[in-house]
Amino acid sequence: MKAAVLHAYNEPLKIAEVQIDEPRSGEVLLRTAASGVCHSDLHIIEGRLPAPPPLVLGHEPAGIVERVGEDVTYVKPGDPVIACLSVFCGKCEYCTAGRPYLCGGAQLDRQPGDTPRLTLDGTPLYQMGQLASFAEKMLVPENSLVKIREDMPLDRAALIGCGVTTGLGAALNTARVRAGSTVAVIGCGGVGLSIIQGCRIAGAGRIIAVDTQDWKLELARTVGATDGVSASAGDAVAQVIELTGGGVEQAFEAIGLNATVQQALAMTRKGGTAFMVGVLGIGENIELPGFDVVINEKRIQGSMMGSNAFRIDMPRYVDFYLNGQLKLDEMISARRPLEEVNTCFDEMRKGTAARSVIVFD
Ligand SMILES: NC(=O)c1ccc[n+]([C@@H]2O[C@H](COP(=O)([O-])OP(=O)(O)OC[C@H]3O[C@@H](n4cnc5c(N)ncnc54)[C@H](O)[C@@H]3O)[C@@H](O)[C@H]2O)c1
Ligand SMILES: [Zn+2]
Ligand SMILES: [Zn+2]
Repeated sequence: MKAAVLHAYNEPLKIAEVQIDEPRSGEVLLRTAASGVCHSDLHIIEGRLPAPPPLVLGHEPAGIVERVGEDVTYVKPGDPVIACLSVFCGKCEYCTAGRPYLCGGAQLDRQPGDTPRLTLDGTPLYQMGQLASFAEKMLVPENSLVKIREDMPLDRAALIGCGVTTGLGAALNTARVRAGSTVAVIGCGGVGLSIIQGCRIAGAGRIIAVDTQDWKLELARTVGATDGVSASAGDAVAQVIELTGGGVEQAFEAIGLNATVQQALAMTRKGGTAFMVGVLGIGENIELPGFDVVINEKRIQGSMMGSNAFRIDMPRYVDFYLNGQLKLDEMISARRPLEEVNTCFDEMRKGTAARSVIVFD
């Protein structure tokens, strides 16, 4: 099968003929229908997140079940599914305490010394998030999958696999945004636009979008922002404090930079919380203003994959799309074949796309 392979950090992906193993116990072989392109893929290309090349990226997919391994009971060939990197084992402390997104499901992966799921001319390929969706087929754990309604278009379902679940979940699960509240979202890419939609669905009264690109602010308004603040037209914090008469109750950072995490905290009012959704790499630290945190009792809280229970959350998000509450068509800037995957990353670096989706025939 055809896959896009990263051979070394900071190189373009190369299309190659990759060998994929047969599904074993607890594993499922999928035909990939579509995969969104998320900034976390780009972080790996740039060596900011730990993942050893050679590898296959892509972790925001929807597809169709082709074959199942022994003991697989949850899905059958022909089922439409979304795959999520929040693989859950169902047995550990995190899974049983209701926080399956912290599990990781490492024990469901093929172990060192075992036949790898993916190989290129005999060389094992690391599979991002046990998914590797920049490929025509995917061999994944059954516990990375959720079945979805047959009437859901798969190119839009793909977005729910990471960005939408991260964003809606940050608002609905991690932050539990309250009706009528005032919030800000810094960074309006696929993740930030989804946070904005989660805040709208929760009934937030005021949703302030912050980005350096004016066209992103326009797009943010079409998906639910009530105000837009241009980070390139002066101090974003001062603008938000001015607009709100003192700051927001909750601010979300959806970029992954020390400077914008600090801005998120600074634009909250007393007692406010800043949610870190953008990913910082290992060894990248954030600096906190001690006085503001203590005296104004501010909090900072991470949010991993929208604190999801994806088999419960994702079918609801599919319903939200099909009943008009969740806008996905507006978020897709381009649909491209796998051969154009590097163009998607070029556009992401330049900020000229919201979400790009790789589509397979
Ligand atoms: N926490 C999680 O579980 C999780 C899951 C998925 C993605 N992420 C992370 O979320 C972040 C966003 O992902 P994405 O796919 O939406 O990225 P993206 O590149 O599509 O969007 C980033 C946005 O930030 C804007 N931006 C850049 N610098 C800015 C600045 N200084 N001020 C204001 N706006 C600025 C860009 O114009 C762009 O609109 C990434 O760090 C990604 O790795 C986290
Ligand atoms: Zn992602
Ligand atoms: Zn577990």
